[in-house]
Amino acid sequence: MFDDLDPEALRRASGAKWAKAPAGVLPAWVADMDFPVAPPVRAAVQEHLEFGLGYPYWDDAPGLNPLREVFAERMRGQGVAVDPSHVHVFTELIQALQVVLHLATEPGDTVAMHTPAYPPFLKTITAMGRRLQPIPMVDTPSGWTFDPGRLNESCKALILVNPHNPTGRSFTRDELTALAEIAHRHDILVISDEIHSDLTYEPHRHIPFATLHDRTVTLTSASKAFNLAGLRCSVAHLGEPRVRAALAEMPPQFFGEVSSLSVKATVAAWREGDAWLAEARETLARNRELVKDSLPSGIAHHSPEATYLAWLDCRALDLGDDPAAHFLEHGKVKLSHGPDFGPGGEGFARLNFATSGQILGEVLQRLNDSIR
Ligand SMILES: Cc1ncc(COP(=O)(O)O)c(C=O)c1O
Repeated sequence: MFDDLDPEALRRASGAKWAKAPAGVLPAWVADMDFPVAPPVRAAVQEHLEFGLGYPYWDDAPGLNPLREVFAERMRGQGVAVDPSHVHVFTELIQALQVVLHLATEPGDTVAMHTPAYPPFLKTITAMGRRLQPIPMVDTPSGWTFDPGRLNESCKALILVNPHNPTGRSFTRDELTALAEIAHRHDILVISDEIHSDLTYEPHRHIPFATLHDRTVTLTSASKAFNLAGLRCSVAHLGEPRVRAALAEMPPQFFGEVSSLSVKATVAAWREGDAWLAEARETLARNRELVKDSLPSGIAHHSPEATYLAWLDCRALDLGDDPAAHFLEHGKVKLSHGPDFGPGGEGFARLNFATSGQILGEVLQRLNDSIR
């Protein structure tokens, strides 16, 4: 299922990843996977269609979206005590982040985030008139690290992306505890995006931030690990009472309501998708090794501890600030552009390796050919 992928069929499918790659170009940019939908998710969606598509109604918990309980169960499994009534369902993780920033911060407030950073979050901070306090990721021979002291009393909120996109770091307990102590001391709201956490490789362990700081707002979705980005569904555990109170003041449906199909799919993924996920992770772990072994010499990178994203340091190749432009023109491979990730992104490109070994092999071959 994971290794038998036909590029022509992928190009005809509906996703942005292949649709936005010009003819002849192999896409390895936006963060979704080329893998087909997990069988339990497919079955749940098909079964739901048999009942038609009337307004959502949840007979197992009338009026209450069942994702609240399913997510609470999943969090409990990771050691976080979750009251399902503190879980809110949004259409997408970016929307959830924007809602929380809107409710809990003001224009002019300072928001900290590790940089380089997931581009839509950078754009969100600017567009909402908040000020970025960068916590720069620092490249060391043993991997990416950071100075937690960059989070300080001037910050109103921290957007933590753990595992981190684009570096692939799965932050350690010590790193997270340092941030939690500062957040606690200065009453800084922590919004912890853990969307990539199900894609953590052995021996690394994902540590939910809420296990260290119970007033955390945790955001996640099945969209990354189960490849459901087209469905638009995310969940937020609102551990901070101020955010819950502010949300309760809003008119119902002010921020929209998710579709019944996306809820059914997410429930199936989280309740019945673990076998599929284990296989997907095995394929990704193999691909991660292929990237390590086959990148052109002159490109440096630290193998990601989680995610299917490799953050490529191309500075030694002298390809300018935006090596992805070079790889597109000379290699016919579409990577994500480093400078889009903000401070620290110049000279880098991000490679998405969630595809078959064969397609990834061709991508890597093209990267090598393009710099010969
Ligand atoms: C760290 C991170 N957060 C959020 C998202 C997007 O999630 P959604 O599509 O649910 O808004 C992505 C997608 O790449 C991501 O990498």
